[in-house]
Amino acid sequence: ASILILWAGLGYLLGSIPFGMVLARVIGLGNLREIGSGNIGATNVLRTGNKAAAALTLLLDGGKGAAAVLLARAMAGEDAAQVAGLAAFAGHCYPVWLRFQGGKGVATFLGLLLALAWPVGIAACLTWLATAVVARISSLAALVAAVLAPVWALMLGHGAAVVLAVCLAALILWRHRGNMARLRAGTEPRIGQKDS
Ligand code: G3P
Repeated sequence: ASILILWAGLGYLLGSIPFGMVLARVIGLGNLREIGSGNIGATNVLRTGNKAAAALTLLLDGGKGAAAVLLARAMAGEDAAQVAGLAAFAGHCYPVWLRFQGGKGVATFLGLLLALAWPVGIAACLTWLATAVVARISSLAALVAAVLAPVWALMLGHGAAVVLAVCLAALILWRHRGNMARLRAGTEPRIGQKDS
């Protein structure tokens, strides 16, 4: 059990690095809290108009989820990989460095799924992409991808990932409460719509 606790801690630490926020600061895009939705993720970085920074945020936030899973798997096996992935996700959403006010976990979710069970990860990415192409709303794409992830895990024969996928979906819904209210009100901005 102590090895799982260790990987929960390491996963959390990796996940808690707020790459979007750091990048935005370092390259002078400003404080993400004062831009768009105020979120620290790639979608909100894109609202600064800097596509490269948004893409890099997506890669780094996804990469930390994948890294947590791959490191834990290599050093401690499959259970540790699941724990580290979930912990990285939690670290992104609730980072101690930002007084536990973090992001919504979508990129980290996709990254950790790709590393944990790549067919499920690919299916989740494609679900996100298909919804984003049709609806042009990032949060809606995230919600659809999150809810369908357990279904993909079941259908693609990754039963071991189903419980984790359900937990992640529930947390993603919880983190998108504000987005869901805006979606219902019809006020959720489209992807890339600049901050006004
Ligand atoms: O990845 C987060 C996305 O689903 C929503 O971000 O900034 O539109 O709240 P945002």
